Parts: sequence; structure tokens; C-alpha cells
Amino acid sequence: TTHEDMQQLVDSGVIAVLRGVDEADVEQVAEALIEGGVTTLEVTADTPGAIDMIGDLAAAYEDREDVLIGAGTVLDAETARSALLAGAEFVVCPSFHEDVVETCNRYGAVVAPGVATPTEAIEAYETGADLVKLFPASDLGASYLGSIKGPLGQIPIVPTGGIGPDNAGEFIEAGACAVGAGGSLIDDEAIEAGEYDVLTENAEALVAAVEDAR
Ligand code: 3PG
Repeated sequence: TTHEDMQQLVDSGVIAVLRGVDEADVEQVAEALIEGGVTTLEVTADTPGAIDMIGDLAAAYEDREDVLIGAGTVLDAETARSALLAGAEFVVCPSFHEDVVETCNRYGAVVAPGVATPTEAIEAYETGADLVKLFPASDLGASYLGSIKGPLGQIPIVPTGGIGPDNAGEFIEAGACAVGAGGSLIDDEAIEAGEYDVLTENAEALVAAVEDAR
């Protein structure tokens, strides 16, 4: 159910953002991150072949209850529906789209629209967002997140954008329920060289930073 997926997503602590990963590499990338403890993975819809990759990963990890596969950079209801049909268990957006939230609510999938202000956060939440993605988080800063959590403490917030092992802890301490991260996990050169252990180490470092701050 949505409630269980939501709890699992929050407990996992980190949403990996797979943007621009090649179809040929995606299963090894996923495996390396999962081995490092990052078990919630989002393939962004702007990646060529994204819907197929979501389908492949969802099938590959069908028996792994601890792994959640989702879609990111979802900007419209059509993309949300396609991703859900392919097997996505959650949907993330950089921005707030009522029709995306409605579509995900309709089919019982966790949805995290992007917001940057208190007004956007509460509007997204009232519309049915399970959590909101604070984006771009490192530009806004951890204290900004903490200030939003003051009056709007009921809204689960996942800061994303520029988050890595060095700053993830500050955001958790400021009230984030989990963090999203792409660049600090995905190393294109390492992937090209087949050095997937680099991704596993990146994942371990980020999970450790989140755990330490909890
Ligand atoms: C993105 O837009 O790709 C995500 O917000 C991740 O950002 P990051 O690569 O800075 O972590």
C-alpha cells in the first residue's frame, strides 16, 4: 500500500536520482547502490529509455521488498501513468503539478512534488502529496528547511539538489525525513570504467551521514 511504501521510503533515508544513466549500465548501477544501502531508486523521466528502465528494475527487484523503484522528473500525468504502469512505486517531480499528484493518488502510488516555498509546500500537501521534495535544497539551505518545518511540521520534506555526505546531516537535523541525491552517488567516469564499487562507497557514505544525524 501507499502507506507502507511511504514508510519504507522514509526509513530508507536516501532516494538515489538516476539521471542520464545508460540503459546498458542501469542494472549494475542499481545493484551497486543497493549494495551500499541505498534501496530507494528513482529513474528520471528525461533519461532516454526511462520507462523501460523503470520496468526492468521493477521486474529485477520484484522479490526484494526492501527495494523501491520510482520515476523522477515527472512533469505531467501521462508520464506518471506510464511510469506506474511500468512498475514505478513512487513518483518525484522537481515542481508541483496537480494532475501528477491526482494521478498518483488515484492509483495509490507515493508522490513527492517539488516545492521551494511554504505556500507551495502546503498547496502540494493539501492536494494529496505524500511528501514534498524541497528543490534545489543546497541553494536554499538547511536552515531554510528548518524554518519551513516550524509552522508546517506535519509535511514530510525530502531535500534534493546538491545533497551529499557533507551536508545531508544538517538537513536531517533541520527536520528532513530523508534526502534525495544524484551527483554525489552517480559517478559517470567510474561507471564508464566499470568501477561500480565507487558507487557502492558513495552510497555507504551518504547513508552513514543520514543515519548518524537521525
Ligand atoms: C536532480 O535534479 O537531478 C536531482 O535534484 C538531484 O540533484 P543532485 O545531482 O544535485 O543531487
